[in-house]
Amino acid sequence: MARLKLSFSGIITAVLILVASVSHAKDEEMLALANASGCFICHLVAPVSTDDLPLAPSYQEIAIRYKKDTDVFNRLLDRVMHGTVYQDQAWSGKVGMRFMPPNVNISRDTAAVLVNWILNLDIDPALAKRLLHHDRMLTLSTVSGCTICHRMDPVTELRVVPLAPSFREIAARYENRANSPHKLLDSVENGTQDNQKVWHNVNMQFMPPNVALKKEDATDLVHWILSLDTKGIPTYVEPPAGKQ
Ligand code: HEC
Ligand code: HEC
Repeated sequence: MARLKLSFSGIITAVLILVASVSHAKDEEMLALANASGCFICHLVAPVSTDDLPLAPSYQEIAIRYKKDTDVFNRLLDRVMHGTVYQDQAWSGKVGMRFMPPNVNISRDTAAVLVNWILNLDIDPALAKRLLHHDRMLTLSTVSGCTICHRMDPVTELRVVPLAPSFREIAARYENRANSPHKLLDSVENGTQDNQKVWHNVNMQFMPPNVALKKEDATDLVHWILSLDTKGIPTYVEPPAGKQ
């Protein structure tokens, strides 16, 4: 029964990922843009039920509130650009922050695209959460230096030998092994120079320890890598003994 449940949730995940990749490419792009613009420091996509007031209104609440307000676009655009410091508080009593500071790091065009997306928001919050997590992990893997050596997808050019295995190949290789998170966390934190060489089709002999990486970030990265879509990634085949 447990097995059945597991594979069923696997199917649902696969379907969700498929749906995400087909019809939510735009949402994925907008979530990444809002994330890069710092909006999610204060905002959430959907409200969460806690006793504490949120810092700022969720994007879903904003979309609902202004649904029938046809000339709200320019007003909100101005509020996003200049902040709301010297203006009326629109969400008084509902949020913990008195005002939104000016978003000085984005252009008016970017703000316009974001406000338009927020006002027409139509995304399943659970999916938004997953897409956002994916985007955060992409950023984390870049700022943590992983992408100096690792790519997301395997190289397809015949004569190119990559520095390190791609993240999707790692996911495929460790897919059904129970102790994978533990083993990979150890590799990421301590490097692989003391381990038996695992990946023979790459240019570097071993991975150096990622000493500056926080433990929780390393854990998140490993779980994220293991959760990546492995469709179409061939299972790694060990080269015959003595031929490496
Ligand atoms: C430092 C926190 C913070 C950041 C960062 C932030 N906001 Fe806000 N935002 C708020 C708060 C607080 C409010 C509610 C202001 C009020 O009650 O008048 C708000 C309100 C809004 C509103 C609704 C305004 C209204 O009049 O109802 C929009 C739209 C919005 N933010 C979009 C954005 C976008 C887009 C970004 C990123 C570019 C962003 N915010 C970044 C805190 C923030
Ligand atoms: C300097 C290059 C380099 C950097 C930077 C690097 N890696 Fe690696 N990584 C490698 C190489 C090479 C291997 C293959 C080692 C082997 O063959 O045993 C590897 C293997 C791995 C593996 C698989 C380990 C195994 O036991 O099979 C994971 C997971 C991994 N890296 C994650 C990361 C993460 C996460 C980061 C960033 C925090 C990172 N790597 C940074 C070069 C690198």
